[in-house]
Amino acid sequence: MTGFVDITKILGGKHDEEQVMIRGWLYNSRSSGGLVFLHIRDGTGVLQCTVNKKNVDEATFNNLERLTMESTLEVGGKVRVDQRAPGGYELSVNNLGTVYEAQPDFPITKKEHGLEFLLDNRHLQVRDPRLQTIFKIKGEFLKAAREWFWENGYTETQSPSFTSAACEGGSTLFEVKYFDKKNVYLSQSWQLYAEAMISSLGKIFTIAPSFRAEPSRTRRHVTEFWHMEVEEPWTTHDGIMKVGDALVSHIARDLAEKMPKEVQAIGRDPKDLLKIEAPFPRIKYDEAVEILQKDGVEMLWGDDFGWQQEAPLTKHFDLPFWVTGFPTGIKPFYHLPDPARPDTTMSGDLLAPEGYGEIIGGGQRVHDYSQLLQRVLDDNLNPEDYKWYMELRKWGTVPHSGFGLGVERVLTWMLKLEHIRDTIPFPRDMRRVYP
Ligand code: 4AD
Ligand code: MG
Repeated sequence: MTGFVDITKILGGKHDEEQVMIRGWLYNSRSSGGLVFLHIRDGTGVLQCTVNKKNVDEATFNNLERLTMESTLEVGGKVRVDQRAPGGYELSVNNLGTVYEAQPDFPITKKEHGLEFLLDNRHLQVRDPRLQTIFKIKGEFLKAAREWFWENGYTETQSPSFTSAACEGGSTLFEVKYFDKKNVYLSQSWQLYAEAMISSLGKIFTIAPSFRAEPSRTRRHVTEFWHMEVEEPWTTHDGIMKVGDALVSHIARDLAEKMPKEVQAIGRDPKDLLKIEAPFPRIKYDEAVEILQKDGVEMLWGDDFGWQQEAPLTKHFDLPFWVTGFPTGIKPFYHLPDPARPDTTMSGDLLAPEGYGEIIGGGQRVHDYSQLLQRVLDDNLNPEDYKWYMELRKWGTVPHSGFGLGVERVLTWMLKLEHIRDTIPFPRDMRRVYP
């Protein structure tokens, strides 16, 4: 007998006709005529384990026949190919190890449950096969992104989550109680720190939580999300959009190639992902306003996009597309004004098609000290709060650019999900921090 094996290995044909042990959670069971069929889940897969009354002693058989859902157990047996079993394999059980019997009243049953009930029981719902598959795809997503960064010469580094200055405007700042200090917040973006770190490490990236006190409940906003951010010296706005193109298309291709079955099971045809090829189209903010006005959507030059604007705009594209040159008035102080059009910035948002909207925000930063000071003052910010950040322009300044990609936003679109919460084990919004 070998030791415990992963179910995925059995389903992959690695243990045909071998005697093995598996362990996991009882996901489903039924019995008929001296046979019990146990579906056991171990995190790597689900395996049908068949217990024949003849192959085990009576106590063992009776135990297994009345075993409650979500009990945890170790079983041993022989692996057999069986086309009738889900996954094409079954374990013919002849041996039972430790059993941790579950209470009989597992709250999540096969009947339909309301959304709030499920979210209250999220600590148990995370076992749901659909969520499990999405979380696995998210793991592959992060791995693919990291691979792309390493292959292209970026170093992964970190920034603090406790900060003392707003990066993306004061309205979505979470203030935290930090001993006796005032004005301590949770980070909205690593950007200000990243701009310091490029003078240490050159091209850098991070994947970390960001926090936004978003008072609205929408299908694409959460208060805590995973932020994949890039910053690089000697790079213009055009250059950083090319990075976004390459990164997003790489991730899409990777998911289509490495997890086609899982992607399909969630409801996205992997072939759609293979069509996400760079370079992505670019339009100016000015053009976007014209398109929207022609479509009869309410939008004046100088307004920021909301959902009402982004959704109809995405109908004009099959690929993700950049909207560039946002007005200076609606972008944070760090965006570089376009020398040819100083009322606009060298900024770009990448919008996903099919109504999904913004997935990346970024652009080129102001690298001149006095220009930055002026932008800070124009935005009615206190230069004291940005002292260290502005100092970066005094010693070793260089044109530089970066962006932030919302991991869950991209995944929601790539998997064609209804709501961002499905990509997060324990989603946070203005009403929920439990469980
Ligand atoms: O557009 P944002 O606010 O840009 C920044 O934070 C820049 N400082 C990033 C940078 O240049 N390093 O946020 C970037 C992305 C958005 O495009 C969106 O995908 C995601 O972060 N995002 C959210 N995702 C989920 N819930 C929220 N409340 C989000 N807010 C932003
Ligand atoms: Mg944005």
